[in-house]
Amino acid sequence: MCGIVGYAGNKNVESVLIVGLACLEYRGYDSAGIAVVDEDEIIIRKEKGKIKALEALLKEKPVKGKVGLGHTRWATHGEPSRINAHPHTNEKNTIAVVHNGIIENYIDLKNELQSKGYRFQSSTDTEIIPHLLNDELKSGKKIDDALMSIYKRIIGKWAIAVVFESEPDKVFFAQDGAPLLIGKGKNEYFLASDLSALIRNCDEVAYLSSKQWGFFTKEQFQLFNFEGVKIEAEFKKQELKWEEVDKIGFPHYMLKEIHEQTSIFRRVLEKRINDKNEIEFTELIASKEFLTKVNRFVIQAAGTSLHSGMIGKHYLEQFAKVQTDTDMSSEFRYRNPVVEGDTMIIAISQSGETADTLASVHEAKAKFLKVISMVNNVNSTIARESDAFIDTCAGVEIGVASTKAFTAQVLHLFLFSIYLARLKWMITDEQMKEIVDEVKTLPTKIESILQRASEIEKWAKDFVSSKDFVFLGRTYNHPIALEGALKLKEISYIHASGYAGGEFKHGPIALITSDVPVVCIANKSEIYPKMISNIQEIKARNGKIISIVTEGDTSAKSMSDYCFEIPDTHDFLSPILSVIPLQLLSYYVSVARSCNPDQPRNLAKAVTVE
Ligand code: M6R
Repeated sequence: MCGIVGYAGNKNVESVLIVGLACLEYRGYDSAGIAVVDEDEIIIRKEKGKIKALEALLKEKPVKGKVGLGHTRWATHGEPSRINAHPHTNEKNTIAVVHNGIIENYIDLKNELQSKGYRFQSSTDTEIIPHLLNDELKSGKKIDDALMSIYKRIIGKWAIAVVFESEPDKVFFAQDGAPLLIGKGKNEYFLASDLSALIRNCDEVAYLSSKQWGFFTKEQFQLFNFEGVKIEAEFKKQELKWEEVDKIGFPHYMLKEIHEQTSIFRRVLEKRINDKNEIEFTELIASKEFLTKVNRFVIQAAGTSLHSGMIGKHYLEQFAKVQTDTDMSSEFRYRNPVVEGDTMIIAISQSGETADTLASVHEAKAKFLKVISMVNNVNSTIARESDAFIDTCAGVEIGVASTKAFTAQVLHLFLFSIYLARLKWMITDEQMKEIVDEVKTLPTKIESILQRASEIEKWAKDFVSSKDFVFLGRTYNHPIALEGALKLKEISYIHASGYAGGEFKHGPIALITSDVPVVCIANKSEIYPKMISNIQEIKARNGKIISIVTEGDTSAKSMSDYCFEIPDTHDFLSPILSVIPLQLLSYYVSVARSCNPDQPRNLAKAVTVE
């Protein structure tokens, strides 16, 4: 998704902006640009493609200055091109704007501006902003009033940064629903849409809330609400360390993040399970009583987080005995869902910024429902707008394909269900001991899978030319079949579909030929014989079987072309282990096909537009 950076200080603004933009690369983008305020003019440099292309342009045509803005664009309105890249300016080039999010009423505003004679260069919604500002200033308003007037006119979830030729020391910024934060340095201020762009340069950051705007120079910072009332910004020490956003020797972030799962599980279990072997959610203490009265959970999420939510449904129903529905957040708000006062929403989002999931939180609030979110970014908008949030503690996830955040979500959904079941006296002390003992074995089991990653790496070359893949799983592992398919298609561009094993013969089995690899998750469980039937049916049609089985398995293994053994555990914990070989499979196939797993085409790390 789009990224914003801004700077006012004594350093060379060009380098500060490029370094900041490079830190936002992981979010996904297709063009990049900067605006630098020189003494008496605004200079724009922008280019289609990667930041390297912008750097090459800057080498050819360098810029100098101490104040400026930068942007990485992920196309929404208009194709990726130099013209559509940000910053956008008014006709006289005296105002430059970068923008994240979408302006929903841009067509009306564009028509209005065109009828006044304004000419547009790009197909973007962003370009209306410099023209609108131009129009307000032309009517005699001061910059502050012109800005406040347009904030109320542009509808949608957005964040912007603006520089004016007439105010060469200042960077102006505002947000209404899209993240923006300010970093404080020594005689310098920074602006970014994501913390990762600030960590190299500043220790203290302040997160903006919706409907806030302000400006900074190198020495001064001021914040207001949209009514013009001054607000005290809360600068806090930022805790993110540089190593957390470094590849530390791995060829890709995705592989680093897959391997991090062992340490994350160790850390989470240490944090969440106390000396008495009880699960703790200190962040939920205030909600304890309400939680025991919840009659129905509705889980809201998208993509990989939706798949963890689907496993969460099993956990909440199985252990806490609360009816649970899992819903795509993009659908929830548009279908006027039936909910009662004792329904609680659980919004799951790695980034905490996904527009669809945020919208479903707003929809829930409009229906007076309580919302708990499960996020990996505790400073995110979704966390801030929920009644309570659970930190999934996975650390910053940079690879676009979500891996460690997914398993951390599943673990937290499991622990939360057991926590709730204990609150409701539904699990005895002996059962609790048995559950906790088993869950504590997970880090070692994950480690043992990762130690055998090379087994899967060897298979990858056999699938370089595959066109289609099928993934099958049942009950707890049905969402893993969906997740395996999503992971493979997003980073290797091979078409892949996941199905519940039982549904397979109702149509999708028609896809099977000797060219279609079928990944069957056939771990030890009550439904193991049913997965064996699936495997037999596929074998009978010459399908190629890749099976994920429990160690010691013989039946499924004997019928498989490729087989990976995962350590034995309870069926309900098996998705945490079975997904890891599938993450590795998609990673190695992607690399074998010469794709970039960290930055797949067309995708963004956080989908902040609807
Ligand atoms: O940040 P979120 O968890 O809300 O993101 C939801 C999806 O956009 C995300 O999981 C997406 O599907 C990933 N690229 C999957 O790997």
